[in-house]
Amino acid sequence: MRYCLSLSAVVICALFAAGENVAVAQSSSIPAPVTFTADQDHQNMMDQLGIKALRPGPSGNEKDANHANYDESKANPFPDAPDPLTLQSGQKVTTPAIWRDKRRPELIELFSKYVYGRVPADTPKVTWTVTAVDHEMIGMTPVIVKDLVGQVDNSSYPAIDVKIHMTLVTPAAAKGPVPVLMMFGRAGFPSPNEPSQEELDRINKAWKDAVVQQDPSLKDVIAAHPAWQPIKATPFQFPQMNADGDPPNNWQLVRAGWGFALFDPASVQADNGAGITRGIIGLVNKGQPRKPEDWGALRAWAWGAGRGLDYLETDPAVDAKHVGIEGVSRYGKAALVTMAFDERFAMVLVGSSGKGGATLLRRNWGEAVESLTGGEYYWMAGNFIKYGASQATFGSSTPGDIPADSNELIALCAPRLTFISYGVPEKGDAKWLDHEGSFMATVDASRVFALSGAKGLEDLGDYHTAKMPPVNQGLLDGQLAWRQHDGGHTDAPNMKWFIQWADKFIGHNAAQ
Ligand code: GCU
Repeated sequence: MRYCLSLSAVVICALFAAGENVAVAQSSSIPAPVTFTADQDHQNMMDQLGIKALRPGPSGNEKDANHANYDESKANPFPDAPDPLTLQSGQKVTTPAIWRDKRRPELIELFSKYVYGRVPADTPKVTWTVTAVDHEMIGMTPVIVKDLVGQVDNSSYPAIDVKIHMTLVTPAAAKGPVPVLMMFGRAGFPSPNEPSQEELDRINKAWKDAVVQQDPSLKDVIAAHPAWQPIKATPFQFPQMNADGDPPNNWQLVRAGWGFALFDPASVQADNGAGITRGIIGLVNKGQPRKPEDWGALRAWAWGAGRGLDYLETDPAVDAKHVGIEGVSRYGKAALVTMAFDERFAMVLVGSSGKGGATLLRRNWGEAVESLTGGEYYWMAGNFIKYGASQATFGSSTPGDIPADSNELIALCAPRLTFISYGVPEKGDAKWLDHEGSFMATVDASRVFALSGAKGLEDLGDYHTAKMPPVNQGLLDGQLAWRQHDGGHTDAPNMKWFIQWADKFIGHNAAQ
């Protein structure tokens, strides 16, 4: 095996070396991208904004003196979130048409300019290629797996190369196009198809011959162990069931007649500040640092998911009218941002998203706006850093100055299927995430779902006083749904509820 590996490594090295030479030759006249540390990039943006000092973010460790607030009586220093149903002019939004034609575009503009940044008008074209097709088994379900690369046109700045990685998995027995849940995380073959025993025998024979050819002194060793098969089939592995006895998300989806797409956000934009002059943001900026309204990583990941959907719209195995987006934690934020901005996505499962996701930016509980303007600044627009400023040419700003909040971000998903998911702190879905603040935002966003002819949690009344339901009691009757499960920092315990709920609304069942 080692022989094979080192042989292929030599070939791969040779290929890389050749590629490098070409890249160097082509880019010699092009200035290299700016190389900053995250701190230097953060400082550069503060300088552009005229900020001298920021309020520090709180510590996540409750034993630290500067730990985050977990006292509900201090959680609402800005008790009123901006009203999704009031135009900036003060006029009330009373009809679906006013929402759609006036308020929605206003909110898109506010979130773009001040919160998540703008997608540049001239984002380059992406060309998708299926690089390999594998026939696999996920649990007991045969599936077809397509591994894909989306090559971003970098003719405007060849020094940066962006290749988007996505893997599409659809049930092999499907009688027609299937709904697909796109999931932020690692892409790649979920369950690679292995050679049969007969093929393994041939591979083992070739391997042994190659070893002897490489080192004839090993002939005796190989001959002394005729039954030894160095390359073996991977033993069947039972999946790890979660505490509810459910198999992994992938298994549940294909068993229910869904497909899924594994979408790698890091292939679009790195998850760190030092990478912001590279990736898709760096490519469009020709390797230069961002300007205050430019997009941050969350918007870039969301843009990438949209390009993934462009491909899915061309694949006959996919019911492109019923593609969802899913993510947990920072990818839960990205999933919500994707759904809010790109109306082609029909549904979203927002897992444990916290600040910058479903919870109110105005709330003072756990992760703070100051966390997002400090170490996590690159997820957001540069402009967002203003809301953490204690000393600046413009004075100072607070979370209460942010012109739009998460109730409005969720509202932008209306009337499409929107499932807000959390776990419980005792199992690791930290208090840091602010479950209560997310619930308040979900309740308030419900008014927009109701106005748009859909249903949310509007029956619970005003978000200031609405009571969160007990853990494991889903509010799943409407297109805007809420469920806090009794597991940890994952959406897996909610997956079966998500599938049933979405199937009901889109009229899908596995037998079709
Ligand atoms: C940190 C961060 C959160 C983020 C989480 C994650 O806790 O503060 O905003 O959601 O990491 O993505 O794991």
